[in-house]
Amino acid sequence: MEPLVLGIESTCDETGVALVQGTELLVDVTASSMDEHARFGGIVPEVASRAHLEAFVPTLEEALSRAGRILSDVDAVAVAAGPGLVGSLTVGNAAAKSLALALDRPLYGVNHVIGHAAVDELVHGEFPERVMALVVSGGHTSLLLVDDIATNVRELGHTLDDAAGEAFDKVGRLLGLPYPGGPHIDRLAREGDPTAIPFPRALTAPKFQASHAYDFSFSGLKTAVARWVEAERDAGREIPLADVAASFADAVADVLVMKTLNACREHGVETLVIGGGFSANSQLREMAAARGEAVGIDVRIPPIRYCTDNGAMIAALGSAVARRELPPSSLGYGVDSSMP
Ligand code: KG4
Ligand code: ZN
Repeated sequence: MEPLVLGIESTCDETGVALVQGTELLVDVTASSMDEHARFGGIVPEVASRAHLEAFVPTLEEALSRAGRILSDVDAVAVAAGPGLVGSLTVGNAAAKSLALALDRPLYGVNHVIGHAAVDELVHGEFPERVMALVVSGGHTSLLLVDDIATNVRELGHTLDDAAGEAFDKVGRLLGLPYPGGPHIDRLAREGDPTAIPFPRALTAPKFQASHAYDFSFSGLKTAVARWVEAERDAGREIPLADVAASFADAVADVLVMKTLNACREHGVETLVIGGGFSANSQLREMAAARGEAVGIDVRIPPIRYCTDNGAMIAALGSAVARRELPPSSLGYGVDSSMP
């Protein structure tokens, strides 16, 4: 029998608890404090930590009750030990350590970003020998070469400044859209012309091939959008919001997909997994599917509820670690807000 793994997620504003056995998801419950942050136009760390403290026990109780399990059924506890907000991580890790200690079960402190890739095993089955994973959200943009999800993951590149979702949220703000702007831009973009404005594709010039082939940068693009909008306003013209949104979204998706497929080709990888909240983005999904198919790459994107932060992704990674019978974490570890 595969071990029953309890997964706990608390890196940002979502409190997630899930139970996974092997690659089977038994239950996944998420509470979010996003409504409390929206009026501030961004996540307020202290508000998030307090919300985790209040939400954790009810979320755990709901997960156990929905799965028809009790705490002592749990064989191992997994928790996201980083990267994320220190206060938020501290609440989830303190809870996880207490449970592991009280139940006398192994505890696995795992990496949240790798969890965004691991969750796909619950949806599309165990990974083949080698997969490429693109993890994109409001907090991360990372390209991972996965030889074994539990023991051998190498980061080929990441964003040098803003994450993709963060860039969308910032452009949303400058276009006067509500926070978080990502989904609003996506909606607008569907009615616009993606070729209307030629926004820059950062770090794609040949001179970056050696140093930043798989790195990303979106802050210059955000500035380019701001300048373009400002110039139009100064000229007294109305801003074609849908065209700006479509052209901006096209520039982001184009760079993400281009670099990721190049990495697949150069590393002989035939399976691509895309995860993280930004994988909800229409342009990214469509472009990755179409261009992936054209070059014979199997593109796996889990349903959106498993792409945003949740406990299932942490339980999935914890389960992969537990199945390989790796040594547990010592209970003395600290959380790592910038975990590589
Ligand atoms: O993974 P997630 O829920 O939270 C973290 O950042 O960890 O990702 C949320 C991010 C936000 O920046 C949000 O604006 C963006 O993903 N996002 C989108 C879309 N849906 C969510 N960005 C563009 N298009 C979307 N459809
Ligand atoms: Zn995340």
